[in-house]
Amino acid sequence: MKDIYYVGYVDWEVRNFHGYSTNRGSSYNSYIVKGEKTVLIDTVKRPYFDYFLGNIKDVCDPSEIDYYITNHVEMDHSGSFPLILKYLPNAELIASKRGVEILKAHFHEEIAEDIFNKIRAVEEGDTLDIGNGKKFTFVPIPMIHWPDSMVSFMTDENGKNVLFSNDAFGQHYATSKRWDDENDLAEVFQEAEKYYANILLHLSGLIAKTIPKVGALPIEIICPSHGICWRNHIPEILERYTKWSKGEIDEKSVLIVYDTMWESTAKIAKALTNEIKHRGIPVKRYRLTNADYSDVITEAMKAKAILVGSPTLNNGLYPTVAEYLSYQKGLKPLNKVGLAFGSFGWGGGAVKEIVELMNAAKIDVMEDTIEIKFVPRPEDLDFKEIVDKLIEKMG
Ligand code: FEO
Repeated sequence: MKDIYYVGYVDWEVRNFHGYSTNRGSSYNSYIVKGEKTVLIDTVKRPYFDYFLGNIKDVCDPSEIDYYITNHVEMDHSGSFPLILKYLPNAELIASKRGVEILKAHFHEEIAEDIFNKIRAVEEGDTLDIGNGKKFTFVPIPMIHWPDSMVSFMTDENGKNVLFSNDAFGQHYATSKRWDDENDLAEVFQEAEKYYANILLHLSGLIAKTIPKVGALPIEIICPSHGICWRNHIPEILERYTKWSKGEIDEKSVLIVYDTMWESTAKIAKALTNEIKHRGIPVKRYRLTNADYSDVITEAMKAKAILVGSPTLNNGLYPTVAEYLSYQKGLKPLNKVGLAFGSFGWGGGAVKEIVELMNAAKIDVMEDTIEIKFVPRPEDLDFKEIVDKLIEKMG
């Protein structure tokens, strides 16, 4: 890209990002933009500082950097902030108003108070002209991903208009190819979808309001802080963000999530799968012992109905089901209907907890539940009636 240089770190090895499975790695993208003045945007996770500094030195002498912009303070982007400051004696620091507060809350032990006081706190519509036809406009995008998050939109009279979007439109995806069209698009959109489901889903209400504001900008390139940059599929990724943030789904499908101790709950899950499949409704089933909850929540975002099953263990939930339901409660998939099922030996308890935790996730749970004592008989596994009710509730 003319006058824009990638100085980030592609993390091929990472497989867990604060609990989210990153099976295709990730990247912490940082960029240098050169006009008459030079700008550095974001940093990388601290363990990769030396590599990051080396990348910067390949582009320019760090002391020539005139501005450093923090688009978002989470440590994957600001971890190297205190370290890089020593190499930027001439840079004016820029962040959103909330960004300044949150930088201070993170780095008060490492950075002197007067440095924070000198950071330029920008608000919506503030601009930075760096010459040679390049001008940045700052637009806060609170809660994509934190309250401090903002995008830096650069118009360029001599090049392309670029949105430096930080977490928004990113993917945990390691690749040696920088552009959307150079990569396997199915993989890229899959990772963008998983990113949204695991990082942004519970913030959808705010995102739905913010996306039109961002989409109205005359964007030609999007450079996020994770994964690939978008140049040929910008309408598609904006459209997906609109769809995900409104809780729209492609088709009325069912997700069955369960675990099992001695196969009784598995029998219920399998019988439900068959009954739903026979109605011609797409259904997917995950046993949590063998599935990762960050993959499962991605499926939950796409389904209309979420059916959760657990055996009763110690009067409550099986641990893997408790873990999933707790994760789901935080992320709150939109516009879902739910059904709880399970097995028990004497007192029960798991199904009641499933209902409670589904309600806490704002899922519209059916009053009917399925609870079977010890091992189901064939007649216990006739779920025609309850599936009829489920389909009716799915609308
Ligand atoms: Fe990639 Fe919210 O940090």
